[in-house]
Amino acid sequence: LLNDQEEMNKKIEELIATLPVVSEGSVPHYQFKGCWYPSFAIRGNIAADLHFQAQDSDIFLASPPKSGTTWMKALIFSIVNRNRYPPNERPLLSTHPHILIQFLETGHYRNGNIPENLDQLPKPRLFATHSHYASLSQSIRHSSCRIVYVCRNRLDTFISFFHFLRLHEKNQPDMDATYEKYCRGIIGFGPFWDNILGYWQASLEKPEKVLFMKYEDLKEDLVFEMKRLADFLGVPFSVEEEEEGLIEEISRLCSFEILKNLEVNRTHKPYLEGGAPANAFYRKGEVGDFVNHLDPSMVENLMKITQEKFAGSGLVF
Ligand code: A3P
Repeated sequence: LLNDQEEMNKKIEELIATLPVVSEGSVPHYQFKGCWYPSFAIRGNIAADLHFQAQDSDIFLASPPKSGTTWMKALIFSIVNRNRYPPNERPLLSTHPHILIQFLETGHYRNGNIPENLDQLPKPRLFATHSHYASLSQSIRHSSCRIVYVCRNRLDTFISFFHFLRLHEKNQPDMDATYEKYCRGIIGFGPFWDNILGYWQASLEKPEKVLFMKYEDLKEDLVFEMKRLADFLGVPFSVEEEEEGLIEEISRLCSFEILKNLEVNRTHKPYLEGGAPANAFYRKGEVGDFVNHLDPSMVENLMKITQEKFAGSGLVF
């Protein structure tokens, strides 16, 4: 374990110098263990890789960006902590979901810093990551910690991603160039097919360790998916809780309309120093918005790539 910050910094810079890098677009992307990291995430990811020690009780939320991460953070936090706070004091009412469950790479280990307080986090510790399954540190893969994965139809994810860049990047991204990079897989935490397939395979091989969820399923039957989630996390809803309407209460609190309109999520201020604006994580929250933005040939091409990459996996979108 690398516990010394100076040594850590040295090691990170040495390693970065050896990584494949693509500099087109607004930020350089580095490839580490098969995953493309934007420059603001690479140091944190290497530091976590060299330092983080998973505990068996830890819970991870993994996802490709713009796939429902914010929603799932709200749901997981609320389900796990449902008995800690009365309904009118739920932390989500005053805290951004991305603060309640921080990313390992861009939160706890931001810029390569070794965090001091990881052992003091309430148990179970809740973390998030956008990394691929194969690029998670050994200790995450080999401990008994649980991983919930959420992903989303590729076309909507791309559109959501494009709008997110438009909202907070100084250099306005170009749709065609962004699309082209997306299809080649060289975008943050891409290629998307490796990101998704890694967790999909892991969920088939170790269903007790990895739960695979889809944004569209959450939209379709949230109560059913929340029960599946609570069961997987080892905190199933009791009959009394169901009868009291607790599942509905949590699902309402975590809904797009409620979260989007809370003061803490409406502000342009970053949710975390140097992070994206708090309100950039709530746009439309709908399934199928891609039809309003992509021409048919773009749709067809991305669907073809998805089908080719997922062929034989049993995964259908
Ligand atoms: P759109 O851009 O299509 O609206 P992530 O959280 O992974 O960054 O993904 C962001 C996407 O999830 C955005 O999609 C956002 O609007 C949507 N979203 C955020 N909170 C949501 C919620 N509570 N319910 C449904 N969708 C939500």
